[in-house]
Amino acid sequence: PDITLIEADGREHAFEAPDGVSLMHAAVGWGVDGLVGECGGGLRCATCHVVVDPAWQERVGPPTAGEAAMLAFTACPAEPGSRLACQVRLGPALQGLVVRLPASQY
Ligand code: FES
Repeated sequence: PDITLIEADGREHAFEAPDGVSLMHAAVGWGVDGLVGECGGGLRCATCHVVVDPAWQERVGPPTAGEAAMLAFTACPAEPGSRLACQVRLGPALQGLVVRLPASQY
C-alpha cells in the first residue's frame, strides 16, 4: 500500500510498502529518520512510536493490551491514535494510510 509519513517538522514522505510487512520494518527500510525500531519489532523498546492520522484511526484499530502497556514508555507522550509501528501490519486495507512521527523516539 501507499503510505504517507509526516515528520515532526511537517515534512511529508510518500512510500509504497509491500503487503504483510509491519509499518516499522517498512519505514526503517525507507531510511526514515524519526522512527527507530530498536528492538526489531519485539514490543520491548517503544522507539517505533507513530500517531495515526485521525481519519485512519478506526481502520488501523486500537493497540493490543501489551502494546498499550509499552506506549507508556514512548519518549514523546502517547496520544489518541498513538501506535507502535511494529504492531501495525500493512495490507490493502491500509492503502493510503497517513501517520505522523513524534519529535523524538528517545
Ligand atoms: Fe521495538 Fe516496536 S520496534 S517496540
